[in-house]
Amino acid sequence: MAKLTFPEDFEWGAATASYQIEGAANEDGKGESIWDRFSHQKGNITNNDTGDVACDHYHRYQEDIELMRKIGLDSYRFSISWPRIIPAGSGKINQKGIDFYKRLVNELLKTGIKPAATLYHWDLPQKLQDKGGWENRDTAKYFNEYAQLMYKELGDLVPRWITHNEPFVVSMVGNLFGEHAPGNQDHQKALQVAHNLLLSHGMAVESFRESGIEGEIGITLNLAPVYANSENKKDQIAKDYSDAFNNRWFLDPVFKGEYPEKLMALYQKEFNQPFELETGDLEIISRDIDFLGINYYSRALVEYDESKLLNFKTVKPEASNYTAMDWEVYPQGLTDLLLSLDDQYTKKPIFITENGAAYDDQIAEDGNVHDDKRVDYLEKHFRAAQQAVEKGVNLKGYYLWSLMDNFEWAYGYNKRFGIIYIDYDNGQNRILKDSAKMYSKVIENNYIKA
Ligand code: GAL
Repeated sequence: MAKLTFPEDFEWGAATASYQIEGAANEDGKGESIWDRFSHQKGNITNNDTGDVACDHYHRYQEDIELMRKIGLDSYRFSISWPRIIPAGSGKINQKGIDFYKRLVNELLKTGIKPAATLYHWDLPQKLQDKGGWENRDTAKYFNEYAQLMYKELGDLVPRWITHNEPFVVSMVGNLFGEHAPGNQDHQKALQVAHNLLLSHGMAVESFRESGIEGEIGITLNLAPVYANSENKKDQIAKDYSDAFNNRWFLDPVFKGEYPEKLMALYQKEFNQPFELETGDLEIISRDIDFLGINYYSRALVEYDESKLLNFKTVKPEASNYTAMDWEVYPQGLTDLLLSLDDQYTKKPIFITENGAAYDDQIAEDGNVHDDKRVDYLEKHFRAAQQAVEKGVNLKGYYLWSLMDNFEWAYGYNKRFGIIYIDYDNGQNRILKDSAKMYSKVIENNYIKA
């Protein structure tokens, strides 16, 4: 059997996020977040689900870490709920919130699992939203203060930090498409949000360096390699705009200290002054990071559409396979993406901080969950990642999304991404799916069969 082997120090992990798994929405002094507010407004979430209880991880974290040990994870990526730590976003600190993450991190370390903490995975304190949220530049300042507090409290325990998860989704899905909290639909607002998020990232990187703590810090971007549906010139224009909108709007400021020129010109034409950018901002945003985190789920296939502001629309190839999210299964995109990042942006370590798939899992007669399609999806993406390593990309690790089924934002509990099944109706029982068993073997062997 041919083996596709990973480097010795390659790290295998799994990822989650606070609002999606913790529950305990009103416990131990936690403040309200924008996702508490948004999910409680009828009609925003499938079945009007909320994260009030979620996977009850706040109470079951020990049991969950025991499952991580069983699977054999090297590292666990979780996020810290800002309103658990500072309920109003700024000012008074909630010690009980800090204590929870200390318990979690200590338990991980005791088990030999490396903690990787994301500072912001979308649950902004509602009190800050009331003052304009990420559209308000002050939110970047408050984020930086919250980051400094976390470095002080957990800096000696957590070796890997991620400032933001997917600023594209926060800004565009939350403020242009209106599908996520806070539910706005305004392009200029979305651009201001994106800028302030990036600014807060840079500020938090600066503070990290100033704190002198050891460890590494980076950012997680959701990137989709873009392909044009044909060779014709117009489709190439569509590809260019789509890539600038989805990917380069975030990559360029972080790595090059500039926004993509052509898209900026288009925004300027459309909005006159698209958003507020102060002198020195881009310098802060482009502070040196230690690694880049990427979340990869699928590619974007686009063609020219004159009716759209950015002249592109996405197309769905009929012959492809799709996940339960209706996302095309396209492993080659992961290799292509990694190669292009290596070529155009960075030789620094890259981590895949999320990759995975939702399918309609069922508990079988034998009590197991035979998630063959997920097994297939994952194996294909492991191979795609290995191929990039083989070609010289500095890929250092892989975090699977997700450790367990959870609250999938606008889709509630209706979409299952986990390699651990959560039996929500049955005492929150946890079952290792077949994919978890397959993952264990890959981790143990450090190779995937060709
Ligand atoms: C990402 C997000 C995760 C998860 C995943 C699957 O965008 O960071 O929280 O929901 O997608 O949709």
